[in-house]
Amino acid sequence: RILILDFGSQYTQLIARRVREIGVYSEIMPFDVGDQAIADFAASGIILSGGPESVAFDDSPRIPPVVFELGVPLLGICYGMQAMATHFGGTVSPSDEKEFGYAEVALHEPGELFRGIEDRIDADGRALLEVWMSHGDKVTELPLGFKTLCTTPSAPIAGMGDDERHYYGLQFHPEVTHTAQGKRILERFVHEICGCGATWTTEAIIDDQLERVREQVGSDTVLLGLSGGVDSSVVAALLHEAIGNQLLCIFVDTGLLRYQEGDQVMATFAEHLGVRVERVNAQKQFMDALAGVSDPEEKRKIIGREFIRVFEAAAKTHQEAAWLAQGTIYPDVIESAGAKTGKAKVIKSHHNVGGLPEEMNLKLVEPLRELFKDEVRRIGIELGLPRELVMRHPFPGPGLGVRILGEVRPEFVEPLQKADHIFISELRQANLYDQVSQAFAVFLPVKSVGVVGDARRYEYVIALRAVETVDFMTARWAYLDHAFLDHVSRRIINECGGVSRVVYDISGKPPATIEWE
Ligand code: XMP
Repeated sequence: RILILDFGSQYTQLIARRVREIGVYSEIMPFDVGDQAIADFAASGIILSGGPESVAFDDSPRIPPVVFELGVPLLGICYGMQAMATHFGGTVSPSDEKEFGYAEVALHEPGELFRGIEDRIDADGRALLEVWMSHGDKVTELPLGFKTLCTTPSAPIAGMGDDERHYYGLQFHPEVTHTAQGKRILERFVHEICGCGATWTTEAIIDDQLERVREQVGSDTVLLGLSGGVDSSVVAALLHEAIGNQLLCIFVDTGLLRYQEGDQVMATFAEHLGVRVERVNAQKQFMDALAGVSDPEEKRKIIGREFIRVFEAAAKTHQEAAWLAQGTIYPDVIESAGAKTGKAKVIKSHHNVGGLPEEMNLKLVEPLRELFKDEVRRIGIELGLPRELVMRHPFPGPGLGVRILGEVRPEFVEPLQKADHIFISELRQANLYDQVSQAFAVFLPVKSVGVVGDARRYEYVIALRAVETVDFMTARWAYLDHAFLDHVSRRIINECGGVSRVVYDISGKPPATIEWE
């Protein structure tokens, strides 16, 4: 296994994902996690991430010395390389030219790390690589024992290595897909240099989790709040496989779900997979609690509170349950760890409605805690969940409660569900669904004038939103084809009732958020 020490780069999670994609388990720890934790992890190799700081200052993050005492191969990326160079007495200088984006590096002396890797050969017979650079500082003088592996015009030491000790540094980012041979470079480091076999496969993850869950919960009953979202669905499938009828899912129908979603959840889990699911029809309770409330944050609080009430009431009727299962995934764990140490650049502002109180006196089982979203999805498919469900766009915990702007009135729900369903099915039909990251309809409680035949109509507005994004922190609106939008708009106005106008949202994030509330 590979340990990734995080110096605060926006790409750290990507490094961990890439290493896992090539079949090796990896974990991220903050660089200052402490010697014991680093040693206990017993890594076969350590990757030092990039980071926003400059090694030039006395208080800039340093590589903990324990890293060099373990005798394992090291790969420093960007800041990680600079910190390694500094540690061994090399020189790091601020760069006048900042490089950001594509660069072409020429291999100088490939060493173990680049053996057999190249994009093309130039006229002078040098092997060249297309890479993704982002740096201000750079290494200008090699530390003792290191050789220059590759160069660019602006960074003569773009890669350095010591094949004796297996220490390597790269100024560019092998973890991003823009570095065409990035995967092969990581493979060479992880497989050949660190000697890790590709054993982290979907089947191995599942087998490992099944065993762990069985051991953890024994013959106890486990409760799970099933929402229909990807994470809780995969937890349900996994626990069902592990412990069968000891799993009891509670599915709260808030009335703020997508078109026919409640029935679909029951069909997939109860009927198709044979999972024990109790459906609680709490539509009226949610609607009553939301009456007269239009502030978005207030609505979120109410929905969260009602959810806990309903869930707790259902759980009370199952005193035999000793465990509560949750769909926490690895990025949530990393982010909350980062938030604790104050290192996280990204603080999650949204919490899932499923955040249940600790007083429930149930022990927690979180089988996805070590997994990235793409791993969760692969497990879901392997366990027989429908692809459509597993690859679904994210849906916010408060559901349509934040997609009906202002006060949530019962009569707004159905037209919105229908409009959203039309939009989504048309996207699927046109093979566009997987090309956008999230798409949905929003109900605007403003009336506008329309004319149908000879009659004047004074009805509501539906806004359509489709975005492309990698991390949902920033996003651009999707350039959907005009003829496609025209077709969707006509269908919505004809079929939804009470809608006389459809608009398409052309705002990016920032400044607009993805949701309208
Ligand atoms: P925004 O609107 O902040 O959304 O750009 C970013 C992502 O988060 C989702 N989102 C939520 N998810 N509870 C959730 O579980 C919420 O209250 C919530 N608000 C937004 C949104 O759908 C998008 O994927």
